[in-house]
Amino acid sequence: MRRLLSVFLVMLLSSALTVVPAHTATAHEVAYDKYSLMIDGRRVVLQSAEFHYFRLPSPPLWRDVFQKFRSAGFNAVSLYFSWAYHSPAPGEYDFTGVRDVDRLLRTAREAGLYVIARPGPYINAESTGGGFPAWLKNVPGRARSSEAGYQAAYREWLHRINPILARHQVTRGGPVVLYNAENEYQVNTDAAYMQDIQDQARADGIDVPITTNDCCDAGSWSSTWATGPGAVQIPGVDDYPQSFECATPDVWGPWGEGLTEKLRGDIPVFAAEYQAGAIDLGNAGYDKCRQLTGPAFMKYFYKNNLVTTGATMFSYYMGYGGTNWGWLAQPNDVYTSYDYGAAITEARRLTPKYDEFKRQGYFLQAVAPLAKTDAVTTSPAASSNPALTTTARANPDTGTQFVLVKHTDRAATSTDDATLDWAAPDGRHQVPVRVAGRDAHVLVAGYDLGGQRLVLSSSEIMTHALIGGRDVAVLYGTAGSPGTTVLRYDSRPEVKVLDGAVRAAYSGNDLRLDYDHDGLARVLVTGGGRRPLLLLLGTDEAAATFWRAETGSGPVLVRGTELVRSAAVQGDTVRLSADSAVAGPVEVFAAPAARRLRIGADDVRVTRTPSGSLLGATRAPEQPSLPALTGWRARAEAPEAAPGFDDSRWTAADHTTTNSPHAPRTLPVLYADDYGYHYGNVWYRGHFTATGAETRIDLNAVTGLRGNYLVWLNGRYLGAAAGGVEADSGDQWTPPNPDPGPGHFDIPAGTLKPGADNVIAVLVANMGHNDDWIADDLRFKQPRGLVAATVATTVTGAAAPVMWRIQGGAAGADKVRGPLNNGGLYGERTGWHLPSYPDKSWQAAAPATQLAPGVTWYRTSFRLGLPKGHDVPVGLRFGGEPSPAYRVLIFLNGWNIGQYGGDIGPQREFSLPAGLLDEHGTNTLALAVTAEQPVAGAGPLSLFAYGNVRGE
Ligand code: GAL
Repeated sequence: MRRLLSVFLVMLLSSALTVVPAHTATAHEVAYDKYSLMIDGRRVVLQSAEFHYFRLPSPPLWRDVFQKFRSAGFNAVSLYFSWAYHSPAPGEYDFTGVRDVDRLLRTAREAGLYVIARPGPYINAESTGGGFPAWLKNVPGRARSSEAGYQAAYREWLHRINPILARHQVTRGGPVVLYNAENEYQVNTDAAYMQDIQDQARADGIDVPITTNDCCDAGSWSSTWATGPGAVQIPGVDDYPQSFECATPDVWGPWGEGLTEKLRGDIPVFAAEYQAGAIDLGNAGYDKCRQLTGPAFMKYFYKNNLVTTGATMFSYYMGYGGTNWGWLAQPNDVYTSYDYGAAITEARRLTPKYDEFKRQGYFLQAVAPLAKTDAVTTSPAASSNPALTTTARANPDTGTQFVLVKHTDRAATSTDDATLDWAAPDGRHQVPVRVAGRDAHVLVAGYDLGGQRLVLSSSEIMTHALIGGRDVAVLYGTAGSPGTTVLRYDSRPEVKVLDGAVRAAYSGNDLRLDYDHDGLARVLVTGGGRRPLLLLLGTDEAAATFWRAETGSGPVLVRGTELVRSAAVQGDTVRLSADSAVAGPVEVFAAPAARRLRIGADDVRVTRTPSGSLLGATRAPEQPSLPALTGWRARAEAPEAAPGFDDSRWTAADHTTTNSPHAPRTLPVLYADDYGYHYGNVWYRGHFTATGAETRIDLNAVTGLRGNYLVWLNGRYLGAAAGGVEADSGDQWTPPNPDPGPGHFDIPAGTLKPGADNVIAVLVANMGHNDDWIADDLRFKQPRGLVAATVATTVTGAAAPVMWRIQGGAAGADKVRGPLNNGGLYGERTGWHLPSYPDKSWQAAAPATQLAPGVTWYRTSFRLGLPKGHDVPVGLRFGGEPSPAYRVLIFLNGWNIGQYGGDIGPQREFSLPAGLLDEHGTNTLALAVTAEQPVAGAGPLSLFAYGNVRGE
């Protein structure tokens, strides 16, 4: 009843100011109006980034990533929930171990992050089936519609995931602040379906505002959608202005300015997915994607969005990308790594993009008037140089101005100077500015900065904090550019320049400071009728060295460590949970009572600086030593190719009908999914009694991009072919092999056994399932495995019938690693990938030795003893150039952590995440290598460290 009441209230109040009522004493209230979200009445600028827990199957590392988000000034994380990841079969769901969503949400809350929960049912995300479990391919009814079969299936998922999300909502003291329905639901505007997702959520106890992420510049949000059935409370927009061509990282904004539209008058502007990396469509490598979406892009596009559109809800895609381990990848756009060129790398390292997020994120959190602004028609700051333009917003209550100064030149990197004639709320000033091409600055005027009055500054504000009775403010600008900061006082204050070259002039209550951004200047201002101010004026780089952490007795600022996760002040001691990458200075700005510093378990000797801060030194991390990978043993498999192999317990592939919207080309239906084999490799064995007139075997397999299939007849290897891929038209699969092509296998003389049983054996690599991005159902439901098989003969119409059997990975067999870990290779079915498998009888041979066509396994183990109290992300590197003639599945302690090969992608290094990797014990590596032809094998292989920090 109470729930019903709250649902009713949500609906009732969903116009100008929507308030979602609290449920318990510890609960919080979420509301919104046209400016921003409000939590317990306090306006919040939502600064979120995307994280996929299913791409980091190591729950202890979730904490690391979330803390890194928080330390960059994010206050929220956006989480897709993958239906495929949790459900091996209809009615079966698993939320334990690496799938423990309760733990995920608790961890987010402990790290101080709100959560935007995005359970789909469809999520896209370059994940297999776009998050749809492959068993859904067998369910009748168009996916992403109101049709009955699909409806029953998605409701089943929602009724499993929603109650978990519901109990972690802010309204019940948890982190979930928004619930996102569907994903870029654009083409088939089935309003009843969109409405039903929301009705199910409400019925399951979801009472936070419901959002959705619209695609492609809000193309589908007709006025009906914005308010009629199916409309959500807060629609948002996805923007990827840089596109995904990482191979040309200097091509700037091919998809426009990326300004997020305001979709309705009563809601904040919500950048539901704003580009913060890219899929590597051209196999350029993720470093190029990081360059394409690097700090320059972030400065220009994010600040433009902030000031030009006044967005107050941001979610950046991705904050941390992770790994397409197992068969998690959608096959067409991605390979094993989903690093995404994000601010935090796949190996959880921080990049210059992280620094930029930190500069902007701290600003958003520190400067409260940003949460409520209106556009100002005529910019109050006129630029003397047309190369630099200004746009402004102002807070209607405080009058605080936010002026965006950007360079009009988006093609080159020229730098221009201008004088801003700035009519600020507290008076008019002329200030010099310098902005480079592809750069933008947000300048503030008329702002109560703690106990100070900031008249204006041409430096950007990073953060400010009241520490030990004085305001400490960090401002910054491009190295070498001029800066002017004007502050207001009742009387002439005392100005002490502690560091750097800063000129101070006082007149008419204004203290004007002029300087060039160079290193870190320090100015102490006292008197003048205000509490003291320590002004820290740095370059972008100097600003990035600062960390801000909240303690029970107020904020502290720290610089010099690689990361600060959290801080506490106990008595006279500041305690930091921090990472250090090198031995070097560490400086802490805390209340004067704090005289000691402890970083982790280390007492750090400190002195007090003229700035009043504590100065000490961090300790260098210990050097890890990684063992060489030796002692490999090998064993060839594929007994399935041999004629005498007993396949009597395999599944008979004898269906004559299918629920697939794709009609089979030949009968019986051989689609792997129809027989319950959804992921990875699948074997077929076809028996026929030969007449002797057979000449050729014609096969078609559909695998998704990068897949292939290998064919044997009576144990003799006939060759391999590339599998068929996604068709862009979406309505049919692309015929896998042009006619005549490699899908036609001539029967060599002497191979047939006339009058006897003949066996065709086919190994098909299913690379994953297409997404349903365009919501046409057909692309997602494209079959996997054989779609046509005929034995051609010289006598017309005399082809013998073939009796087929199929074998693949058993759904739900591995409860720990889940449904996406394994396919149906013989070694996988027999446990050769598992650490416990006894391989003593295998031959000694390294992976680089010559391979025969078929499947060969390699195993070795290694001991690790990484330094305790350190974070050393470890990777596996393949030396040499990979051949397109083989593909390697890599198993670490039984976990399929990736695929390597000349046709698979540009990747040579594979992340071995702690948790799957035993950092203080024995680990087993197993490789399953499928070769299409005789070829030298992969490698040599070695372990390497992506980095090394002393800390968590
Ligand atoms: C969006 C989609 C995301 C992801 C992204 C590209 O269209 O909503 O799930 O696929 O594109 O990485």
